[in-house]
Amino acid sequence: MSAVITAIGGFVPSSILTNKKISETVDTSEEWIIKRTGIKERRIADDDTATSDLAAAAIENLIENYNVDRGEIEALLVATATPDHILAPTASIVCEKSRLTNAFGIDMNAACSGFLYALEMGANMIESGRYKKLIIVGADKMSSIVDYEDRNTCILFGDGAGAVLLEKTESDYGLMKTILKTDGSGVSSLAVPAGGSRNPTSMQSLLHRTHYLKQDGAFVFKRAVAAMSQVSQDALTKNELEADQIDWVVPHQANLRIITAVGESLGIDFEKVKVNIDRYGNTTSATVPLCLWDFKDDFKEGQNLLITTFGAGFSWGATCLKWGVMREKKTVQKTKDSKVEEVLVAH
Ligand code: COA
Repeated sequence: MSAVITAIGGFVPSSILTNKKISETVDTSEEWIIKRTGIKERRIADDDTATSDLAAAAIENLIENYNVDRGEIEALLVATATPDHILAPTASIVCEKSRLTNAFGIDMNAACSGFLYALEMGANMIESGRYKKLIIVGADKMSSIVDYEDRNTCILFGDGAGAVLLEKTESDYGLMKTILKTDGSGVSSLAVPAGGSRNPTSMQSLLHRTHYLKQDGAFVFKRAVAAMSQVSQDALTKNELEADQIDWVVPHQANLRIITAVGESLGIDFEKVKVNIDRYGNTTSATVPLCLWDFKDDFKEGQNLLITTFGAGFSWGATCLKWGVMREKKTVQKTKDSKVEEVLVAH
């Protein structure tokens, strides 16, 4: 018995923040951002939208498109680094908004690896025989913790959410063996220093802008390439697969140069590597499920996917999965919000 993805949903806000707009507020240029990151634009949620709204919208998209019975969902795992509140759990808010009345909900924060960690937890819950149907959602409103005066970070991130339905299967399809890693020595290289119990919000934290995300970009970059390359290779070995047996790679979307370097290290053709960072930037817990959602029509029954992530913590990992049979879709599909407008985000 294993766990297989049978439905996918996604949501991105309609407002677009372009490189041009960013270059009007910090010392950078459209060309620099594209050349060094591959990002052309990112989506930004409005002030009234919290992470739970993004998550609930992605879940609604999944439920609506694949005729999922809300009452059958037994658990909701919400991967997020930007919860609505420090307390109460965002998962409780999403359960309420999505009317998942028979599900328990829990938040999981492993930053950019959060969705992969939650997927592994969910797969184990199903493989234990105790659960049959779970929803796993990765959602982040990164614009709520990004400093739009800091050119080292504000160019990178965007808002969004992606959700998958994980179900029990007796077939050969579904999640294979996963490797998850944590190295706490990396915490200071990528973190929001203030606002938690170590350094509660204060006049000082507001003054020094330490309630925003800080990172040592070059160090994180090098660690991400090395860690994702190694763990992907290890996951292939663990699942007794060769690189040429992988049909699609779905990597965390942090920087196009990281994605390219990981693909090259594995010897996998770039056409097999899924990339949407140009449109969404780094949406943290949402990058992998948003990629699955974006490219779901390319994945065919029986194909092998490799998923790999790296994020704050440091947290990283990789898994392989054999794409299964998706639930029958409704013929009329809701698409991404077509209303698109440019925004300038300022704090
Ligand atoms: N526009 C123009 N110049 C910029 C810039 C920007 N937005 N951001 C940094 N620079 C400058 C730096 O100040 C530095 O100038 P200096 O040489 O005069 O000191 C120069 O560009 C090179 O800086 P560096 O940090 O080495 O650039 P980089 O090529 O590594 O790109 C990142 C910076 C942040 C894009 C890159 O390091 C990165 O993507 N890191 C990983 C971040 C990440 O993935 N975080 C989330 C993890 S999941």
